[in-house]
Amino acid sequence: MNETIATIHDLRSIHGNFSEREVSNEDLQTILEASVRAANASARQSYSIIVIEDADMMKKLCGYAGSKLLLYCVDYNRLFATAAHLGYDFDADGVVSFVTGSTDTILAAQTAAVAARSLGIDSLFTNGIHRGDINRVYELLNLPRTHCFPLIALILGYPTQEPEYLKGRLYGPGVIHYGSYKPLSSDEIEEMLAYYDNPDGHMALNHAWMEKGFAHYHDWFFKVWSARGEASATKSQMFTLLESAGFLETTLPDVA
Ligand SMILES: Cc1cc2nc3c(=O)[nH]c(=O)nc-3n(C[C@H](O)[C@H](O)[C@H](O)COP(=O)(O)O)c2cc1C
Repeated sequence: MNETIATIHDLRSIHGNFSEREVSNEDLQTILEASVRAANASARQSYSIIVIEDADMMKKLCGYAGSKLLLYCVDYNRLFATAAHLGYDFDADGVVSFVTGSTDTILAAQTAAVAARSLGIDSLFTNGIHRGDINRVYELLNLPRTHCFPLIALILGYPTQEPEYLKGRLYGPGVIHYGSYKPLSSDEIEEMLAYYDNPDGHMALNHAWMEKGFAHYHDWFFKVWSARGEASATKSQMFTLLESAGFLETTLPDVA
């Protein structure tokens, strides 16, 4: 296994227990420079990365704090400003812009996480920014209201305690499909369920299913975890924000 592959296999989330130890500015710059190397559609880098160093601000934004928080936003405002500067019209409305911009954004974010890990710095991706009133994120950080959406926060830092194990991953049928899509057979589903139930695989989100006496991890997952649903307020606010940002068109464009 080469060093890059080893770093990727060594990725792990730190679920909030970051120590006081600071990520150096030099490392931060290395991570940011690596982050923007990610592939991006039409050489547009349709994102902005807001760097937060204030722990109180981090907590307000997402409920967690570490040494640094990188907020990755889908963002076309730099392009709008450039178009206006040169006297051109520019269009970034609609779901295609959002999907493409989100792809640019998330690739840059994951590249930062890998770069950080290669420097011995841990991370946590969190969508805590979408819990509660998402408007606070716009207000606290002066985000543009149009063509900008805070997609994911990446917290960087050092853990107070080494995680006991790496979380497992599915690999194989149902995840990797060679040639064409292959739905899982019943036997393959049974195998997958057993794989999740085996504590040595560390697949479960947490141990609540065992502690609460569920026979299988997925009994807990469907009955308890998924049944919480998304808060309807979050759902409707996210829709409204994406719509007012210009990323959701409520009337379909004419197709000639
Ligand atoms: C979109 C997204 C949101 C996440 N939000 C949280 C979060 O709010 N809190 C948390 O503790 N972990 C969060 N995670 C981390 C996952 O729980 C973690 O990646 C998963 O359990 C696998 O563990 P690992 O990253 O250590 O392998 C999030 C991950 C992603 C990709």
